[in-house]
Amino acid sequence: MLLEAQGIVKAFGSFRAVDQANLVVAENELIGLIGPNGAGKSTFFNCLAGDTRPTSGTIRFRGQEITRLSPDRHARLGLARTFQVPIVFAGMTVRENVMVGALLRHPHRRRAADEADELLHFTGLAERAEMPVTALGTPGRKRVEIARALATEPRLLLLDEALAGLTSSEVEAAIELVERIHARGVTLIVVEHIMEVIHRLTERVLVFHQGRVIAEGTPAEVTADPTVIAAYLGRRRGRAQ
Ligand SMILES: Nc1ncnc2c1ncn2[C@@H]1O[C@H](COP(=O)(O)OP(=O)(O)O)[C@@H](O)[C@H]1O
Ligand SMILES: [Mg+2]
Repeated sequence: MLLEAQGIVKAFGSFRAVDQANLVVAENELIGLIGPNGAGKSTFFNCLAGDTRPTSGTIRFRGQEITRLSPDRHARLGLARTFQVPIVFAGMTVRENVMVGALLRHPHRRRAADEADELLHFTGLAERAEMPVTALGTPGRKRVEIARALATEPRLLLLDEALAGLTSSEVEAAIELVERIHARGVTLIVVEHIMEVIHRLTERVLVFHQGRVIAEGTPAEVTADPTVIAAYLGRRRGRAQ
């Protein structure tokens, strides 16, 4: 198994944002994570990526326990993520932002720049390479984050609402980008609200509700599950997605 997370709890005081969540991921899977706002999806990602330490539980990646390792150790082992609200280095160009990721594997600046250029091309950002990253809107910044994460050469990439706020044509391009990332051999876990995207991209979905995994299965299975409809999908009827 590529990743095994067992009994993950993240408590803030007496509140459990993640409450006994389990997830096993095989190499080359493309897994969806869905659930209402506040269900604990981003906090779970934070635990997996080392951005926060779980209160309890164990996370193993490529056979090694990583539960309490720092985010940079996670990155070095090949576990990368993007954030729901994209984080970019404001004083830098688009290329320099991606170079920050590439420097993890390629300490020589020239080589890191070449790697960054390949990924800027791959993510459709090549024409904006010289721009200050702050000139980009949220969709562009999300791409920069994806390019920067890919530049660390991950085996597993966690995408937290990478498609949120995109127009329908941008969503199409983003779906295609996720497919191309998967085709590169990167295993993916995507947090995504648009069910059509989940249906098109993923073969296995976990449904989070109140910090717990309440259902797991194919997109068709979970969307037909009465528990999931009651906790999540039912509330969404009539919303414009
Ligand atoms: N640092 C924190 N301190 C206290 N509560 C938090 C913190 N981070 C997240 N939470 C709470 O944990 C719950 C889960 O949040 P989150 O993981 O962001 O959910 P999701 O990504 O599924 O929308 C929410 O109720 C949120 O307010
Ligand atoms: Mg979230």
